[in-house]
Amino acid sequence: MNKTANQMLVIFGASGDLTARKLVPALFNLYKANQLPENFVVLGVSRSNMTDGEFRRKVVLESTYLKEKVKDASSDFINTLADKFFYEDLGDDYNKEYSKLATRISDLNNKFNTGENYIFYLSTPPSLYEVIAKNLSQQGLNNETNGWKRIIVEKPFGYSLETAKKLNIGLQTYFNESQIYRIDHYLGKETVQNLLVTRFSNSIFEPLWNRNYIHHIEITNAESVGVEKRGGYYDKSGALRDMFQNHLMQIVSLIVMEPPIDASAQEIRNEKVKALKSLRIMRDEKTLYSNTVRGQYLSSVIDGKKVKGYREEDGVDPNSKTETYAAIKFFVDNWRWKDVPFYVRTAKRMPTKVTEVVIHFKSPHHQVFKNSDMNNKDNQLIIRIQPDEGILIKFGVKVPGQGFTVERANLDFYYSNLADNNVMDAYERLLLDAMQGDATLYARADEVEAAWEFVDPILDYWKNGTDVNIYGYSSGVWGPTNSDHLLEGDLKWRNPGENLADDPGFCVIK
Ligand code: BG6
Repeated sequence: MNKTANQMLVIFGASGDLTARKLVPALFNLYKANQLPENFVVLGVSRSNMTDGEFRRKVVLESTYLKEKVKDASSDFINTLADKFFYEDLGDDYNKEYSKLATRISDLNNKFNTGENYIFYLSTPPSLYEVIAKNLSQQGLNNETNGWKRIIVEKPFGYSLETAKKLNIGLQTYFNESQIYRIDHYLGKETVQNLLVTRFSNSIFEPLWNRNYIHHIEITNAESVGVEKRGGYYDKSGALRDMFQNHLMQIVSLIVMEPPIDASAQEIRNEKVKALKSLRIMRDEKTLYSNTVRGQYLSSVIDGKKVKGYREEDGVDPNSKTETYAAIKFFVDNWRWKDVPFYVRTAKRMPTKVTEVVIHFKSPHHQVFKNSDMNNKDNQLIIRIQPDEGILIKFGVKVPGQGFTVERANLDFYYSNLADNNVMDAYERLLLDAMQGDATLYARADEVEAAWEFVDPILDYWKNGTDVNIYGYSSGVWGPTNSDHLLEGDLKWRNPGENLADDPGFCVIK
């Protein structure tokens, strides 16, 4: 049932890529699924000078993203929603003309009856978040006496612990925490949410989900692309800020957390914060040296095509030390996880695009079957976040015939096999949740700060530590070999798709 209240979505930075690429297709798909309210208006805001018609053409009518992502849409269908898109330019520096903006918002509200319910979606450079919040509050646009007001902020949320704290204080000066929605699009992914369901709705996993049965945990986030057109941004950010502090820390918190009392935003987020606070922060150089590896992709030839090295990319400093590969080993200091190593890596220009969590179980205490193929292979629970969304369990079976030869077999579940497998795009889900006032899949202030608290010393060490190397790796390989040294004993990274017999149905995306 559609329970979304009438409202207006005001997008700041509306002429940027995110609006056309993600937000507008998400809105059209929600419209198609009958999830938008009856009275709904989009007001795009940015520095460019555009008319309503030009804005509609740019982000809807002439957008290739819309054609690609919204299937079987008739022009009537597109025009009906496109007619509800409006545009207002805000001058050069996002710091003036807010009374003009407030008047436009009020006019549209009166005309379309949006109940003074407004979402302000900030898709601008982060340096403008506080400025915009302040100006909105000066116009009374944070006031919920008539209709609710919500503010969504895109990542990156801060550049360090200090800047994230400052930004939280800045936003909270003008909006209540309950009005602030910090986006992390990984939380909008069905398979990331399914981590909670896998753990807390199955009695077969949770009893084993601890140091008594789990040997180590491995999380891989690999992208085959390089920095594409975002060299300028990326060179100031790097893999740790771009992917690890937010998306990967969110996944870690869902793996590590204790069962929440219920599925409310408050309880789930309380447990996630507790989980993040229990990560052992690495402070001394020796620990940081032996538990972190950074790398940078080099030029290479992939499928007969030369690809640029990171330092040759547009917008990147030719002497850059920014990492495009980060691998971190860490421990969690609590009752459940003591001494269980977590290995987490993220990188660009890997052989394929894949995100997965691998729970490696301990070997049986006593080996009964001597010549078993399982002796050197553990039981694994592999949660495939993307692509091939699903779950794979690796376990031992008897090879038919004489004696007891044991071999590892796969038990495989694919989301695509579900009858109702209409997996929503992350932005669809997140926008709809914000429209309905559900903040469960948005990061709370203390959550973001706890993640920065863990990441900050690593960033500081990589920037200021003595003799910190950055290792080159050829584009298209699984990162620098030095990251193998992170792994204890004779463990090896599970490179998904490398051995297709081990990864049935794995779809390799170049
Ligand atoms: C973004 C990062 O947050 O996530 C990008 O800024 C990265 O660098 C992207 O490419 C990856 O998202 P996904 O959903 O394709 O895994």
